[in-house]
Amino acid sequence: MATSSPNQIPIMFLCLLSTIIFNSSSLVLCNSMLLHCDEKDESLLIKFKHAVTDPSGVLSSWSSHEKDCCRWRGVHCDNITRRVTELHLPCDTIQFDEILDKDNEKPHCLSGELDMFSLFDLEFLSYLDLSNNDFKTIKTCSNNNYSSNIHYLDLAYNYNLVNDHNNMLHQISHLCSSLQYLDLSGIDLYKEIDWLQSLTSLSSLLELHLDDCILQSINPSLQYANFTSLKVLSLSNNDFSSILPPWLFNLTRISYIDLSENNLHGQLPQSKPNLLSLETLCLYINNLDGPIPNWLGQLDQLKALNLACNNFVGPISTTLRNLSSLLVELHLRSNMFTGTVSEKNFHMLSKLKILSLGSESLIFDFDAKWIPSFQLQMLFLGYPGPKFPSWIYTQSSLELLYVENSRASFEPLGKFWKFTTQLEALVLINNSINSDISDVLLDSKVITMQQNNFSGSVPKVSPKVVHLDLSYNNLSDISPFLCQKMKKGKGNLETLFISDNALSGEIPNCLMDWTSLLQVNLGNNNLRGKIPHSIGSLFKLIFLSLEENKLSGEIPLSLKNCRNLRYLSLGENTFSGAIPSWIDQRIKIFQLGSNQFSGNIPIEICQFHSLKILDLSNNKLSGSIPNCLNNLTSLISPHASMDVFKVLSLTKYTKRGFTYLYFRVVTKYMVLHFVHSMLLIDLSSNNLSGTIPSELFMLVGLQSLNLSHNQFMGSIPQDIENLAALESLDLSSNLFSGQIPQSMSGMSFLEVLNLSCNNFEGKIPSGTQLQSFTNLSYVGNPKLCGPPLSRICPQDKKLPNGEQRTEADGDGDDDDNSEVHSWFLMGLGIGFATSFWGVLGVILFNRRFRDAYFRYLDEFHDIVIHKVKPIC
Ligand SMILES: *[C@@H]1O[C@H](CO)[C@@H](O)[C@H](O)[C@H]1NC(C)=O
Ligand SMILES: *[C@@H]1O[C@H](CO)[C@@H](O)[C@H](O)[C@H]1NC(C)=O
Ligand SMILES: *[C@@H]1O[C@H](CO)[C@@H](O)[C@H](O)[C@H]1NC(C)=O
Ligand SMILES: *[C@@H]1O[C@H](CO)[C@@H](O)[C@H](O)[C@H]1NC(C)=O
Ligand SMILES: *[C@@H]1O[C@H](CO)[C@@H](O)[C@H](O)[C@H]1NC(C)=O
Ligand SMILES: *[C@@H]1O[C@H](CO)[C@@H](O)[C@H](O)[C@H]1NC(C)=O
Ligand SMILES: *[C@@H]1O[C@H](CO)[C@@H](O)[C@H](O)[C@H]1NC(C)=O
Ligand SMILES: *[C@@H]1O[C@H](CO)[C@@H](O)[C@H](O)[C@H]1NC(C)=O
Ligand SMILES: *[C@@H]1O[C@H](CO)[C@@H](O)[C@H](O)[C@H]1NC(C)=O
Ligand SMILES: *[C@@H]1O[C@H](CO)[C@@H](O)[C@H](O)[C@H]1NC(C)=O
Repeated sequence: MATSSPNQIPIMFLCLLSTIIFNSSSLVLCNSMLLHCDEKDESLLIKFKHAVTDPSGVLSSWSSHEKDCCRWRGVHCDNITRRVTELHLPCDTIQFDEILDKDNEKPHCLSGELDMFSLFDLEFLSYLDLSNNDFKTIKTCSNNNYSSNIHYLDLAYNYNLVNDHNNMLHQISHLCSSLQYLDLSGIDLYKEIDWLQSLTSLSSLLELHLDDCILQSINPSLQYANFTSLKVLSLSNNDFSSILPPWLFNLTRISYIDLSENNLHGQLPQSKPNLLSLETLCLYINNLDGPIPNWLGQLDQLKALNLACNNFVGPISTTLRNLSSLLVELHLRSNMFTGTVSEKNFHMLSKLKILSLGSESLIFDFDAKWIPSFQLQMLFLGYPGPKFPSWIYTQSSLELLYVENSRASFEPLGKFWKFTTQLEALVLINNSINSDISDVLLDSKVITMQQNNFSGSVPKVSPKVVHLDLSYNNLSDISPFLCQKMKKGKGNLETLFISDNALSGEIPNCLMDWTSLLQVNLGNNNLRGKIPHSIGSLFKLIFLSLEENKLSGEIPLSLKNCRNLRYLSLGENTFSGAIPSWIDQRIKIFQLGSNQFSGNIPIEICQFHSLKILDLSNNKLSGSIPNCLNNLTSLISPHASMDVFKVLSLTKYTKRGFTYLYFRVVTKYMVLHFVHSMLLIDLSSNNLSGTIPSELFMLVGLQSLNLSHNQFMGSIPQDIENLAALESLDLSSNLFSGQIPQSMSGMSFLEVLNLSCNNFEGKIPSGTQLQSFTNLSYVGNPKLCGPPLSRICPQDKKLPNGEQRTEADGDGDDDDNSEVHSWFLMGLGIGFATSFWGVLGVILFNRRFRDAYFRYLDEFHDIVIHKVKPIC
């Protein structure tokens, strides 16, 4: 009763959707009988309530106001015995304001220590769902003397749950021997080496979900795993990097296997395994290779097969032809298949709803007149060609069309655009459709059309469109789009991404009605003139990037109305006037570099408590650094480094060289995106002066600090060692003096150091860290000496060291500018690579960030790469 068989999962999305979707908890009440619930049960529930933190009052009904505990929220009782049998307390999905302001926290969910094993004292408890809460620790059970009656246990996506003794699985398998359903997805089980052994003792287990658990080994040499009853095994997104284990193919009762998003390699077994009941096989995003075995065609229960994004080779036509006629979902995209596919391969597959097809060397040879027996809901095509499969026009139920890297022409385009208006989601990526799309009317909820060489004006949209991404095309005019007349206001557009096009002219003052916009990116175009006053109408705006245009003038005060603005990127324009210090204090990313801003750095910046990136570089700022930077609380936490900025979008991301369209669901086709970035302050290339205020050295979360090319003076204090997370420090081309503090030699994360072109003096402190930089980190300081500089310090000159003397001959060349410049470029490269991998390392341990990270690789580049400028 407590278990859901795979048949109850909607077949449609068996392999496709990731596990982030949660069923929101439903308020379930017991029969309104006049009976009181069992007193012992009640006191155990109260005890549980007192032990947890419940900020939003989920358990507020658990009180003496309601005498019958069977009527408390989430509590189910047996109708007759009135004993508590089920607890349904999953937390709801992320709330919008949390997306804005909380980095990965779930402040409205249950939290604290989870004393789960004492809940098992509820003698009749058989169902426990605490998924998606924010429990931090699980209390280890000391009394191993009883066996609970629990059948269903779901603790998934309590991401922060730590089990100090690393024996959670052992305890669970020991105490919950009648478990039928277990979901611990999203919990860090890195140290649970024996997870498989522990769990195989659960002889009644029907479903096991351990997705996103950082599991390391899938026991590739084990022949047989004693999962006597297992039907569902879901182990996606772990760290398995071996071959597929033999025991997997010995699970005779299994109907659902998901090993997607691991690093599995090797081939599928060529002889037919005992997977008689297999309905779903998901192996996408691995490194599996070799041919597709014939036995896949003999799995006569098969409903979903996802082999996308691997290295499988060879022809697929024979296997396709023999696949089960029950097949609903088939993903073969992004492999190295060869040969041809044609209508002959599909005549059995009349139930197909989702199809993903295409490899670089696979030929599409469909008859232009073919009418398939299936009606698809989603179609993913990679490298379709040489002829465009015109049968797509017969698919009147299609909701999502994704076409990537097409070699075929979409002509006649009129027919194509007309067809797309029936779609909910249209994704066209890297298809050379050299076409003017000024007159197209877009009419799908989600539209992503990157890198298609579209030209003309930005096409008009219907009120239905929510997400519009036309980045990396050749569109030239945005006015007709922004000023278009719509019958019922400007509709529902939330995302407008038209970066990296050829947009020119001014941004028209037509933003008044686009009030639903949440994110706007018009970066890297040729836009001129001022930001229109009507920008202030976008009161929901979270993300605004206008960087790399030719925009000018002052930032309009109306931007103050955009109280949700968290990401503002205006870099590389010619904006002037004062720094807009009046924007909402909750800003996280404030990039105004490479403009003409002047005046002082306003003291109001210290009120930007959430600031993670402050880039005011390459402007005309003067005066000193305000001495209140310790107010930037987001930078003073030593663990602040994983900044995550969430953006709603739909795009592809790159992982291990494969591209894959990712669905982390917000709405049906929307994705939650994350931007990872270094925490940085860049004030370089201004006319700033004075000493560095000591408050700056309290920002212990800071990862990159660039104060170069200013007029700063004074010495570096010993306190600099507080900046223990610092990976890049550039103080070059200032008037700094004094000795380089010995404490810097302990800054172990430092990968890029540039102190050149100052007045530093004395000996460079010895210690592994500072000597590992080349002399170019220190050149242009005539009074500085000691390795790695060739200038010998006076106190060392008396030492009888012939080697040093001969090297010192080339002394005068320390300041060679071209050398400095090329070093800087190179140092940047290395620094970039190391911080890049540094972040990656962190991400591997912070599993839940990892996919997101890969998805946002491009944006990450944008943020991390510092501008290269000539030195001295
Ligand atoms: C208990 O009550 C619920 C709700 O009224 C009902 O659906 C269910 O069938 C009952 N179970 C038994 C065993 O009577
Ligand atoms: C375990 O249970 C048995 C019988 O129920 C009892 O005699 C024994 O004291 C219990 N042991 C512990 C450690 O609670
Ligand atoms: C497998 O589990 C069953 C039930 O727990 C047990 O009877 C059997 O001995 C086990 N087999 C092996 C090979 O461990
Ligand atoms: C299945 O397990 C048995 C041992 O129980 C073993 O002999 C056999 O090789 C296994 N089959 C596969 C395909 O690994
Ligand atoms: C395909 O199916 C047919 C009929 O079911 C069978 O005769 C043939 O051997 C199968 N081919 C392969 C390669 O499995
Ligand atoms: C774009 O598509 C072409 C084939 O049509 C392919 O050769 C090329 O590699 C693709 N470019 C990218 C960036 O994927
Ligand atoms: C893009 O389209 C233009 C015509 O609008 C064409 O001249 C150009 O070659 C195309 N570029 C690519 C890369 O296909
Ligand atoms: C962009 O479109 C213009 C015509 O509008 C064309 O001349 C130019 O070649 C296109 N640029 C690219 C990169 O395709
Ligand atoms: C620093 O933060 C405190 C508390 O938020 C605030 O009262 C104070 O005005 C801030 N100081 C500056 C200079 O912004
Ligand atoms: C730089 O600032 C100093 C005062 O600190 C001022 O005298 C000088 O004119 C400024 N230089 C420029 C180029 O603005």
